Amino acid sequence: MQSTTFDGAVAVDQGGSSRSLTVVETARVGPRPPPPQWASLSMDCAARTSYQVVFSNALLQSQTSALVEAIGDRKALLVTTPTVDRMYGSAIRAALEKTDTVSTLVLNVREETKSMELVQSVCAEAFSHGLNRRGLLIAFGGGVCSDIVTLSASLIRRGIAHIRVPTTLIGLIDAGIGLKGAVNFRGKKSFIGCFHPPEHVLIDPAFLRTLPRRYLVSGVAEAIKMGIARDESLFDLLERRSLDLVTSGFDEPVVAGRELLQRSIWAMLDELSTNPYEDQTYERLVDFGHSFSPALEGALGFDIHHGEAVAIDMALSATIALSLGLITPDVWQRILGVLRTASLPAFSPRLDVQLCRDALAEACRQRGGSMNLVVPAGIGRAVFLKDPREVTDSLLEHSLGLLSSSAAANS
Ligand SMILES: NC(=O)c1ccc[n+]([C@@H]2O[C@H](COP(=O)([O-])OP(=O)(O)OC[C@H]3O[C@@H](n4cnc5c(N)ncnc54)[C@H](O)[C@@H]3O)[C@@H](O)[C@H]2O)c1
Ligand SMILES: [Zn+2]
Repeated sequence: MQSTTFDGAVAVDQGGSSRSLTVVETARVGPRPPPPQWASLSMDCAARTSYQVVFSNALLQSQTSALVEAIGDRKALLVTTPTVDRMYGSAIRAALEKTDTVSTLVLNVREETKSMELVQSVCAEAFSHGLNRRGLLIAFGGGVCSDIVTLSASLIRRGIAHIRVPTTLIGLIDAGIGLKGAVNFRGKKSFIGCFHPPEHVLIDPAFLRTLPRRYLVSGVAEAIKMGIARDESLFDLLERRSLDLVTSGFDEPVVAGRELLQRSIWAMLDELSTNPYEDQTYERLVDFGHSFSPALEGALGFDIHHGEAVAIDMALSATIALSLGLITPDVWQRILGVLRTASLPAFSPRLDVQLCRDALAEACRQRGGSMNLVVPAGIGRAVFLKDPREVTDSLLEHSLGLLSSSAAANS
């Protein structure tokens, strides 16, 4: 015999001795009756894709920071790299002093070791640390660290939560902001991966003070991407301030640094909000600078940084746009100029027609059969070239020649 006594509490009569169970009503609807007959059914469910990106100026200086709040009382494994641990390990452990549920794993994650083996190491440590479904991973480092942590979090118990604390510029405005995690596989960059949204991304520009200049410059390329493709004000800001910001570790001018980060992050979130799993459209403005660059990175191995390859790709895409009459020589000069100001390269002798053709073929495979080469149509505006036949060998040859002469004239 069973009777509900008050909201959610059920009294159970067990042969005279009655005891009270506390049962919480769930929000679950149903059970729904089955349809009488069916030949096919659709499973419609809402996937969680919302998360918080929080701007904080003193993440490691307070024991009541956004990080402590985000962790709460959950058991967590903080994954970091030897460099970040050496620079910030004791500060983050001090900030988490009151939270005795977090342990640290220092992993030698580098682009060369971004592999499933490292994902397995994270999973093994999570297992040893006894993480349950409420358990949490924290990525504390650059894009390589967050890629590995994101993929690990998606696999542990079929998906646990993770928080990202990015410490590089690419992490702050790009790798740390999206839903993706990945590792390299058989020489192919980021070939195995997942979409697994973080729970929180905590942004603190102070980490950039110690980031080596070449990595800062590389990150600026991703901001330039957003400026050219969709935000003219961001482009203007980059033209005026990128050199000072790169020189000062984003410390000076503070307001410009903050605006650059916030505009870039907003642009990324805005692009993701309508296409978070990249299944709504293959026309993605954030692919600007990412059509030729993977092939160039592949060809040059680890001698080129991601952002440098993106910069060269943007310069070539802009030159193709110039050759097609989509932008004026003036706009083309401004685009090459903003790359130069930020100390980014605009050309590589390794770029040739064959490499470009191979890159565009791979872009077609990646983009559901359409090339969708993103080229500027002005400052803050871009369009998609869909058909590979429109980018002929002679157009590529002409554009590569123009770019090479311009690079030689400015070197
Ligand atoms: N998942 C995505 O959507 C996405 C997007 C863009 C890039 N990525 C990936 O991100 C990776 C590149 O990320 P990255 O540029 O951050 O490189 P990275 O993670 O290799 O970090 C660069 C170097 O800086 C060091 N470092 C990190 N923070 C530091 C700090 N505050 N001070 C001093 N040194 C510091 C690191 O130890 C490392 O040696 C690539 O593997 C790329 O594929 C992923
Ligand atoms: Zn990129």
